[in-house]
Amino acid sequence: MTDLQDKSTIDAAARALEAGRLVAFPTETVYGLGADAENPEAVAAIYAAKGRPQDHPVIVHVAPGADLDYWACEIPAQARQLAEAFWPGPLTMILKRAPGIPSAVSGGQDTVGIRCPSHPVAIQLLQAFKGGRGGVAAPSANKFGHVSPTTAQHVRDEFGIDPRLALVLDGGQSEVGIESTIVDMSRLATHGPVLLRPGHISADAIEAVIGELPARPDTHRDPTAPRASGTLESHYAPHTPVAMQDTATLQATLSRLHAAGRKVALIHYSALPSTHAQVELPATPEGFAYALYAALRAMDGSGADVILVEAPPQDGAWLGVNDRLRRAAHGSTGIVHGLINNTPGL
Ligand code: TXA
Ligand code: MG
Repeated sequence: MTDLQDKSTIDAAARALEAGRLVAFPTETVYGLGADAENPEAVAAIYAAKGRPQDHPVIVHVAPGADLDYWACEIPAQARQLAEAFWPGPLTMILKRAPGIPSAVSGGQDTVGIRCPSHPVAIQLLQAFKGGRGGVAAPSANKFGHVSPTTAQHVRDEFGIDPRLALVLDGGQSEVGIESTIVDMSRLATHGPVLLRPGHISADAIEAVIGELPARPDTHRDPTAPRASGTLESHYAPHTPVAMQDTATLQATLSRLHAAGRKVALIHYSALPSTHAQVELPATPEGFAYALYAALRAMDGSGADVILVEAPPQDGAWLGVNDRLRRAAHGSTGIVHGLINNTPGL
């Protein structure tokens, strides 16, 4: 699944990045839309291709063994411990940005998000790019606010033929399936470590390494909290309205929507009646996360009026999945309510 790419393809991708072009590449979480992190024009092309606001920071991806002090300054010992424990892997750390690193990568903030991915193709690319000493700025390779891609085909579906995108490296389906855990390590003295985005690496796993459980951000009371687009209420959303409901409620909703002649797409893990279109996912957080975005995309393309998702359990292991589902459903609560209650005009 994570086959290495041949050297000539990797070299072509690395040269394209060095020339200021964009390259999409697989990571173990989701596919990234990469550019040279030290080339502000190349970084600007990412924002343009995604349709993303310029003040949203992007993550800088580095090769294993990269010099953290090149990218960040005032690095706390706990951050080095986390890098040692979880890199290469699905953890992003927010650190104070080193003076020489362009502010374009952090949307003008004085921090930088850094991660060393574990996908072999990502590592190949990072090692070939600038002799392994460069950084590749890469948000998820989707249009702003849309579902992140977990296959090369998803990336092609998002961007079609875009002259800014030199090539899409194919590394099979991303194993984790949801974006990296983000922990803010830039304000330890005043705030301690803060979990900005839950993911495969859990708060408990972080605590086991640094002896302190990261806090959840309180963005309402703390206007100085780093901005993160993954922390926007409406994000990771398909075009079709999405509702997340517990199993019993969902069964009742399903009957009412069917009675009203609505086409329902279903993402579930319990045995449920058949519908217009459905995907049954494994009832484990890892299995669910792995297949979730592909399922959302498939159901989005099914021509359904609504996508119903069976709400996963609320416990900590499901935090990352529940977070993404809540955001995918956020923008459509009113629409779904209308469909369920058969409001005229819908
Ligand atoms: O798994 C991932 O993290 C994927 C793959 C491609 O590595 N990338 C990803 O990037 O999810 P993106 O841009 O879709 O989400 C990155 C998140 C955003 O919410 C961004 O605002 C936040 O990281 N971020 C990046 N740098 C930051 C910084 N300096 N301060 C605060 N948040 C930052
Ligand atoms: Mg994203």
